[in-house]
Amino acid sequence: MESDPRHRFQNPPPFPSDTRMHIGHFAMANPLFVAPMAGVTDRPFRQLCKRLGAGYAVSEMVTSRRDLWDTLKTSRRANHDGEPGPIAVQIAGTEAQMMADAAVYNIERGAQIIDINMGCPAKKVCNKWAGSALMQDEALALSIVQAVVAACAPRNVPVTLKMRTGWCQAHKNAVRLAGAFESAGVQMLAVHGRTREQGYKGEAEYDTIAAVKAAVQIPVVANGDITTPEKARDVLRATGADAIMIGRAAQGRPWIFREIAHFLATGAHLAPPLVSEVKRLLVEHLHDHYRLYDEFIGVRSARKHIGWYVRDLPGGEDFRAGMNALQDSVAQVAAVEQFFDGLNEKMDRIPANGGAANTRGRDMTECAV
Ligand SMILES: Cc1cc2nc3c(=O)[nH]c(=O)nc-3n(C[C@H](O)[C@H](O)[C@H](O)COP(=O)(O)O)c2cc1C
Repeated sequence: MESDPRHRFQNPPPFPSDTRMHIGHFAMANPLFVAPMAGVTDRPFRQLCKRLGAGYAVSEMVTSRRDLWDTLKTSRRANHDGEPGPIAVQIAGTEAQMMADAAVYNIERGAQIIDINMGCPAKKVCNKWAGSALMQDEALALSIVQAVVAACAPRNVPVTLKMRTGWCQAHKNAVRLAGAFESAGVQMLAVHGRTREQGYKGEAEYDTIAAVKAAVQIPVVANGDITTPEKARDVLRATGADAIMIGRAAQGRPWIFREIAHFLATGAHLAPPLVSEVKRLLVEHLHDHYRLYDEFIGVRSARKHIGWYVRDLPGGEDFRAGMNALQDSVAQVAAVEQFFDGLNEKMDRIPANGGAANTRGRDMTECAV
């Protein structure tokens, strides 16, 4: 249907090798990272994002609780089959030795980079708050980092860390912690421009991220509310960050990475994807998803992804409501194909800003450890 060559997808030009950022000895393919999102950034989603232009993706967080390591949930989260490296696994917990053990456990299962979660308003682990709550207890946070680095360094595995700007508006300690973490051996910091107290409310701010970047020598990644190519450019400029990390805006829109890559490289916007391409990508995503989760869980957990893909498309809301009643993968895929075939009769490409790359209505569920 589409013949205008300007509208054909082109692979984004690679970033010049001399500007590539490194995490330890690993060179990043480009500075566009997928943010870890529990329940979302599983292996099929990460692989799709990487195929569509993301330079790096961190896996969903794995608990440091040894008693949960053998659960199906944890083993699915630790599934990296066929994933292009480097394999980065995020760990969450509140005790230094448990976190060090969790790092080793994941390295033995293929992790090449270990990321410490101090960025997510995570649930309790062992009756203590993990994730960004650790920022409130700087001594504990530092002891965790030191223990994890001590476990990873002999195995030549870099340690990275994701945090927020601070505990609350009155206690923005990201800059102080960043210096301490760098001295302890952390090799990359990602900073979400909100405090823990904010949750996902309000706007992300980037001044604190810029201050973190100015305070350390290690690479810094800016995160929070990056939803368009222009915003990506502006955040990179405003913070001086080495890379950006995108979470909610990639839900149902994994091609946002190639759109941003193209814009950063050329200053021009890539045409929105063809309806037929979105159909193909979603169907492939679904089959990969069912393979990881099996039929019963797969059909149910796929619904949120399908909902995100169609949410802002004409007829998407009605389709989503009906599709939620389907109980098996064959029917789910058939419904998706029918929806996109119908859309393709009306338009070649999804509307510009269809799936409006914003965080409205995206999953804000707090991450569960
Ligand atoms: C559903 C969901 C799950 C998340 N899970 C994690 C997680 O496991 N670890 C983590 O560090 N951050 C987690 N986050 C936070 C994101 O990585 C990111 O910092 C946040 O969404 C802000 O970026 P965004 O505006 O691009 O979405 C999660 C966010 C969402 C919405």
